[in-house]
Amino acid sequence: MTVTAPALDRDALLAWYRRNRERSASLFALVDDTAYTERPIPLRHPFVFYDGHLPAFSYLTLNERALGEAPIDPALERLFERGIDPASLDAAVAHARSAWPARDEVEAFGRACDERVKRALAEATLHDPAIPRLVRAQAAFTILEHEQMHHETLVYIIHRLDAARKGRIAQEHYDHRIGPARMRTIDAGIATLGASRDELPFGWDNEFDRSELFVPAFSMQHRPVTNGDWLAFVAAGGPVPPFWVERDGEYRLRGVFEELPLPLSWPVYATHRAACAYAAWKGMRLPTEAEYHRAAFGTPYGNERPHPWGDAAPHPMHGNFDFERFDPEPVDAHPAGASAWEIEDLVGNGWEWTATPFAPHAGFEAMASYPQYSADFFDGKHYVMKGASPVTARELVRRSFRNWFYDDYPYMYAKFRLVA
Ligand code: AVJ
Ligand code: FE
Repeated sequence: MTVTAPALDRDALLAWYRRNRERSASLFALVDDTAYTERPIPLRHPFVFYDGHLPAFSYLTLNERALGEAPIDPALERLFERGIDPASLDAAVAHARSAWPARDEVEAFGRACDERVKRALAEATLHDPAIPRLVRAQAAFTILEHEQMHHETLVYIIHRLDAARKGRIAQEHYDHRIGPARMRTIDAGIATLGASRDELPFGWDNEFDRSELFVPAFSMQHRPVTNGDWLAFVAAGGPVPPFWVERDGEYRLRGVFEELPLPLSWPVYATHRAACAYAAWKGMRLPTEAEYHRAAFGTPYGNERPHPWGDAAPHPMHGNFDFERFDPEPVDAHPAGASAWEIEDLVGNGWEWTATPFAPHAGFEAMASYPQYSADFFDGKHYVMKGASPVTARELVRRSFRNWFYDDYPYMYAKFRLVA
């Protein structure tokens, strides 16, 4: 099969890069100088690392490794090259440093990288079928989507920083009474996982290749498990979720910028392990990745669609994603995003845990521009998450996109629903 060269829209890539850098700057601007070298999440790096990592990764990946340009500052590039997801506190401590460059030095380095990355996006040969990192402009898309994923991980970290040491973005919060989760039946049928290399302008290595799986009939809750649902589990001895705080015998929710009365209609953010415990308590289980695909993209007519709502490009009416808000909304806020089986809130408002350990699809090949991106995490200890959170960029909302984390990692925006 011939792979057709995508029509490369440099202006669009450059505008995307500028939007990313603006969002990064506005997120770092929320962090007080006194917190710049701190790690509110002990398993991740301090803010200063990410401030350097984003431009360093872009410059290294596009300008140096794909286009052959010389380093700007080899020491800073090495320091900021890779943000790990350490398995343990010991591993995190091994990466800790006592001294970091000053904030203005990191920002000046970032500007130097930016200038050259923008020039490359405007002028360089971004697509070259003979150079693996440049096939279908892979390196350019890699840096663009990489920065957007870090926007999300940055928000997780800012979330954990004391309100007194960060800026605040005002948000309205909504909560209202909702009915119980109803079980919807999904007929037996085919789920298409992954994508073929010529059907997307860009995908991460773990999205390839495309495969079809037969999925027996099952039933799934029409909405995610809520904080209100979880209260009953806590009353029965279940664990208190990571974003809940207890004050004077009442549970409240720690939002990104403020604490609020526990919104009972919002999805509960839970670890994979806690979600499994909840499922066992209910006599049900988490969906597999293939079952999520059936529920989200399959239809009673046999065809599959790109999004739960159909073919339309992702829009705020379909779900809570793309930084419309930082915090969740009621699980029934987006009926326009329902799937063909009338299952709601599948994309947005928190990633959805699956029972499937993160592993390569058949035909996986580590990507040239970032070979460790996925391969380092095929260890049976990470689980696939699908969908999107409030702070997942619209560009990452696609059927084949897969996210993953450890089963007991308590910091990310992951919800779940049950199947039987
Ligand atoms: C895909 C979100 C699990 O943040 O650990 C960023 C993305 N990889 N830089 C992570 C990532 C390298 C990754 N996740
Ligand atoms: Fe990174």
